[in-house]
Amino acid sequence: MTFSRRDFVKTSVLGAVAAKVGAPAALAEFPAQDHAAQGSAPKRPIIICANVGYPFVEPAYAFLKGGGDTLDAAIRVVKGAEDDPNIDTVGLGGLPNEEGVVELDASCMHGPTRRAGSVGAVRNIKNVSMVSKAVFDHTGHVMLVGEGAERFAVAVGFPRENLLTERSRKIWLLWKEFNSDRDWWGPGMADPNWHPPAPYSKPQAELWRDRIEQLRRRAAELGIEPEFQMAAVRRVLFPPTGTIHCSALNEKGEISGVTSTSGLAFKLPGRCGDSPVIGAGCYTDQDVGSAGATGAGEENIKVAGAHTIVENMRRGMSPQEAGMDALKRIVRNYNGDMNKLHYMDMTYYILRKDGAYAGVCLWEGYSAGHPHKFAVHDGTLRSEVATPLLKGYSQEWPPFPAIPEELKKDSEYLK
Ligand code: GLY
Repeated sequence: MTFSRRDFVKTSVLGAVAAKVGAPAALAEFPAQDHAAQGSAPKRPIIICANVGYPFVEPAYAFLKGGGDTLDAAIRVVKGAEDDPNIDTVGLGGLPNEEGVVELDASCMHGPTRRAGSVGAVRNIKNVSMVSKAVFDHTGHVMLVGEGAERFAVAVGFPRENLLTERSRKIWLLWKEFNSDRDWWGPGMADPNWHPPAPYSKPQAELWRDRIEQLRRRAAELGIEPEFQMAAVRRVLFPPTGTIHCSALNEKGEISGVTSTSGLAFKLPGRCGDSPVIGAGCYTDQDVGSAGATGAGEENIKVAGAHTIVENMRRGMSPQEAGMDALKRIVRNYNGDMNKLHYMDMTYYILRKDGAYAGVCLWEGYSAGHPHKFAVHDGTLRSEVATPLLKGYSQEWPPFPAIPEELKKDSEYLK
């Protein structure tokens, strides 16, 4: 056997690395290299999450304070939202994909054991946050998707169930009909209520009024309860990307995070947003802290938002500075073009290992008086307003001409 000089160098280097592996002293050669790790331990446990998780934080905080694991505490908050059929952006009752099928995404990271799990485009399983944890509890993998993820969930004991509530199905049907001027969905011309499209000469406000009233009427015909009809109209006009993220830190400085979503409403089947992508929708490093995201998943994937934020904190940025930097990267991806940036939004939830935290967002909210908020519990549960990078309000996708202010005044749901 010949043995070249290159082989010798390679073998020597590998040998040196191998010698270090397993030797406790070698750890000193891989220092945490983080600023946050040198900070003081948190004074008390803390939970931070998207505001939709607010009703579920109190019992999770008691569990954390009583010595419960940080990831289990965070999952308790998220599970509350997944189980609630009235929250239509997560778990049971989540708005479905364009074919009317609910597909869920989730990911989590357990700081103390430095493990990660994720599932994408999962059908028929409600608590995908728990399934994402089961991925690292029961396999050597990190990410499972689609049918394989569903079969795995069933194998480890999660029940299959229908996630499409009647209300979500009807909202989907309303969306299908509304976007259906080129196919055969929706009442046909034989229907007594069918009218030819409104002439384009009408002023914008009038067109909007017609469109909204038509949708509301159809929502009523489909049997959507009166108190949800305008909410349904809003979801049809502007499909939401609502999501829940939660990070939890205990008194020992252990930290974990989890994110769960039904994703962008009426998405293409198989579409995964940022939520199941470790480093985008969720990232935790036990040496530094944890971050998660809600908002435009595609934009967040491109800046690896949660990972970027944690790395920024590692290099010494405060949670707010770290989040603002990630948001600036989104702005940079569009060369600061506000005509495009107006159609997206993003909120980051950031918790540093020493208990410092921040909520930051691209825009102030959807309209005046409706700022982006996040929930915090550090002994007292409260909602706080997230700090925006940009002044003003986002418009939702798709880019219809803006709804006139006079119409917004008529309806809480159109704000
Ligand atoms: N951020 C959730 C999604 O885009 O699916």
